[in-house]
Amino acid sequence: MSAFDPWDPAFLADPYPAYAELRARGRVHYYAPTNQWLVPRHADVSALLRDRRLGRTYQHRFTHEDFGRTPPPPEHEPFHTLNDHGMLDLEPPDHTRIRRLVSKAFTPRTVERLKPYVERLAGELVDGLVRRGGGDLLADIAEPLPVAVIAEMLGVPESDRAPLRPWSADICGMYELNPSQEAAQRAVRASVEFSGYLRELIAARRKEPGDDLISGLIAAHDEGDRLTEQEMISTCVLLLNAGHEATVNATAGGWWTLFRHPDQLAALRADHSLIPSAIEELMRYDTPLQLFERWVLDEIEIDGTTIPRGAELALLFGSANHDPAVFTDPGRLDLARADNPHISFSAGIHYCIGAPLARLELAASMRALLERAPTLTLAAEPRRKPNFVIRGLEGLQVRVG
Ligand code: HEM
Repeated sequence: MSAFDPWDPAFLADPYPAYAELRARGRVHYYAPTNQWLVPRHADVSALLRDRRLGRTYQHRFTHEDFGRTPPPPEHEPFHTLNDHGMLDLEPPDHTRIRRLVSKAFTPRTVERLKPYVERLAGELVDGLVRRGGGDLLADIAEPLPVAVIAEMLGVPESDRAPLRPWSADICGMYELNPSQEAAQRAVRASVEFSGYLRELIAARRKEPGDDLISGLIAAHDEGDRLTEQEMISTCVLLLNAGHEATVNATAGGWWTLFRHPDQLAALRADHSLIPSAIEELMRYDTPLQLFERWVLDEIEIDGTTIPRGAELALLFGSANHDPAVFTDPGRLDLARADNPHISFSAGIHYCIGAPLARLELAASMRALLERAPTLTLAAEPRRKPNFVIRGLEGLQVRVG
């Protein structure tokens, strides 16, 4: 059809020209390779995220057969059991019940209390980088910060944290378009291991509660708030994965964008009060999560095109964030951009529950890097991961001094 080709390295390097073409050509486009309807404009993405005729799942209302879909192969069952019981893949009333419980841990006030801890950790990580004269900003800063924070919140002991990142990466492989058989096998193995680990941790916290989110969820469960064991496991995996994956990519990707815009980086170095708007702009400019899908539960019409029940929409967040109908000069990085209604944290009932925490972490690492590593420069051109939905770098080599 067009330059939109999520398997083409040139598209992955810079998908934004292809999005501009899609937006100009119309509001909705059928895309045969994934059997989805692509939605590229901001107004539509924003409205459809709030539209209750759509859902992240259909299984609360229909069977796979009703929906004209083949059930996933039985050997993928451990992945689907894990995934389908997390709140991101549930719809009301189950979604509402679980989100209500979990949201208590993510109120702006609760997150504000984490600030000294997050800032101290960011400072220590950056000091280490400075002592070594540089390193990999992704592996040394972007990754350990959010992993430690979410693991700490949930009460995963430090000695158990090493496999969290590989488990998460393997599970997230299933969120790409048309995942391969090998990706599915890796996701299944990770789902079995991660679930097994959490089942044991939950049992340990049940015996000996701590001051952590898992103990809190157990208490809610035991008080009759009807969080099943599987929902508890799925929620913890979702929090551990969602709680770092996009933040890692936003941090490293954000610095890669800054290095390619030296005038903007200089302005930020000269005025740290730009940090909050810089974070929003970097998430708009190169959107860490490029696409989210929705099932059509009840027929909808977009611009005269009827989209039937059972169809799937692909909402193009990266495209919505570059829509000139909403953003003045969207291809320009403007760290001082004031009016910035980007959609990187979604909208509607699945709006990112961790957005306040993500903003806190992004600000803490950016401030620490600006203050403690003022001579930070790029040491080598980074390589991009060959993924589309979860947009990220393999690493980001930097030098200090
Ligand atoms: C830059 C970082 C982050 C980005 C860009 C991001 C983005 C998103 C988006 C787009 C969604 C909704 C997907 C949809 O509508 O289909 C979402 C949901 C979610 N996010 Fe984040 N997120 C980030 C960080 C975090 C953090 C730090 C946490 C911490 C726990 C988190 C936890 C969640 C959870 C639990 C959901 C599911 C909410 C629900 O279904 O009600 N995220 N996130």
